[in-house]
Amino acid sequence: MLRPSPHASPARCPHVASCGGCSFQELDYRAQLAAKQRLLARVLEPLGASLAPVLACERPWNYRNKMDFTFARARWIESGEPAGAEVGFALGLHARGHFHKVLDLQACEIAFAEAAPILAGVRELARARELAPWDVRAREGLLRHLVLRKSWASGAILADLVTSAAAPELLEPFAAELRSRHPELTTLVQHVNPGVALVANGRLERVFHGSGEIEERLGGLAFAISAASFFQTNTPQAEHLLELVCAQAAPRPGETVFDLYCGCGVFALALARAAGPERVFGFELIEAAVEDARANAARNGLEGVRFVAGDLALTLLPEQLALRAIPGPDVCVVDPPRAGMHPRVLGALRLLEPRRIVYVSCNPRAAVQDVAALLAAGYRLELVQPVDLFPHTPHVECVFVLQHERWP
Ligand SMILES: C[S@@+](CC[C@H](N)C(=O)[O-])C[C@H]1O[C@@H](n2cnc3c(N)ncnc32)[C@H](O)[C@@H]1O
Repeated sequence: MLRPSPHASPARCPHVASCGGCSFQELDYRAQLAAKQRLLARVLEPLGASLAPVLACERPWNYRNKMDFTFARARWIESGEPAGAEVGFALGLHARGHFHKVLDLQACEIAFAEAAPILAGVRELARARELAPWDVRAREGLLRHLVLRKSWASGAILADLVTSAAAPELLEPFAAELRSRHPELTTLVQHVNPGVALVANGRLERVFHGSGEIEERLGGLAFAISAASFFQTNTPQAEHLLELVCAQAAPRPGETVFDLYCGCGVFALALARAAGPERVFGFELIEAAVEDARANAARNGLEGVRFVAGDLALTLLPEQLALRAIPGPDVCVVDPPRAGMHPRVLGALRLLEPRRIVYVSCNPRAAVQDVAALLAAGYRLELVQPVDLFPHTPHVECVFVLQHERWP
C-alpha cells in the first residue's frame, strides 16, 4: 500500500488477507457500490444502454444463507503467523488464488451468524474423534465438505456432511453428538462423494435427523430446500430481485410465460400468480431441481405450472415445444449459469421471438454478448438494473429488460 484510500474501511474479518471470499471488504460499502457501477458501465458500454444505480443491499453483513466449507488435512498458514505454527486439519474456505488450499476458518462476516459456531463445533468434534479429512493428493480420508443452510423465514438450519464413504460406524455417533451440542441444527444429512471432483455434493446417503430439507419463503411463496437445491444465497435481496423481475415481466392476461434455467421454480411460480399457472412453463437441466420445482408448485397450490427437464439447447427447439403441446412464449425470464446462454439456446429464443425478455445475469461479461445478439434480432433495451446480491465481493447481479420492436 502506498497510502490508504479515503474510502478504506477496517476489515471485519481476521482472514481478509488470505481468504478468497470478500476481496472488496476493505472498501467502504458505498464505495463498493460506486466501484461496481463503474465496472458495469465499462463492461456494458458496447450496448450503449443507460445503467440504473445498483440496488444496494440493506444488510450487507451476514447475508449468505448457504455456505460450502471444505475439510483438508493441512491448513493454509496465514501471513503474520509465527514460525512453527501447527498445520494439521482445516475446515473452512479456499485461500485466495489457491483452489486446493484451505483456511481453517474462525469467522466469516458474510455467512449467516450461526454458521461460525457450528463450524467450530464440527471441527472440534471431528478432531476429538480423529475423523480424517480428505487428502486431495492421496485421495484418502473421510470428511470432504460441510454445507450449512439457513432459512430466513423460519430460522431452520440444515447441515450436510459430504464424505468419501458411508462409514455409519463413525458418522452416526458423530452426528448424534453434533446434534446434542448444536440443537439449533434442524436437520442433519450426509452425502457421499467417492470421486475425485472437489464438489460439495454426491448421492444422499442418510438423513440423521429432521426432514432433510428446510423451508424458505420468497415473494410470499414457500420453497422446500434440500442440501443440493439451487437457491439464491441472499434471501432479502432475492426478494427485491424477484419483485423487479415480476414487475418487468408483467405478463398480460392470456399470455404464455417461459422461465428458462428455472432451478427450483422461483420466477415461474411467482409469475404464475399473474399469468395463471396453466400459462407458465419452467425449463431446467437438473432433474432433481425439476422435482423440487414440481413439489414447490404443489406446496403453493400452483400445480398447473409445467416444468420440463432437459438441456435447453434441445428442449427450447420449436419442434420439441410442439411435441409437448407447449405454445410459443410471449414473455421469457432467462437466468442462465455464469457462462451465459448456449448459442443454440439463443438461436431458439430468437426464433421464438417473445414480446418481452427479462434476462437475469450473475456475469455481466457473458450477458453482454447475449443481449447484443438480442438487440441485433430486433429487441430494444428498456432497462439495465444491477442488484447487489453479493456485498464485499466483486460480483453483482444484473437484470436486462428487452422488448421486441415489433410488439407494442
Ligand atoms: C443461475 S441458476 C438460476 C436458477 C433460478 N432461476 C433461481 O433463481 O433459483 C441457473 C440454472 O440453470 C440450470 N442450467 C444450466 N445449464 C442448463 C441447460 N443447458 N439447460 C437448462 N438448464 C440449465 C442450472 O441447473 C441452474 O439451475
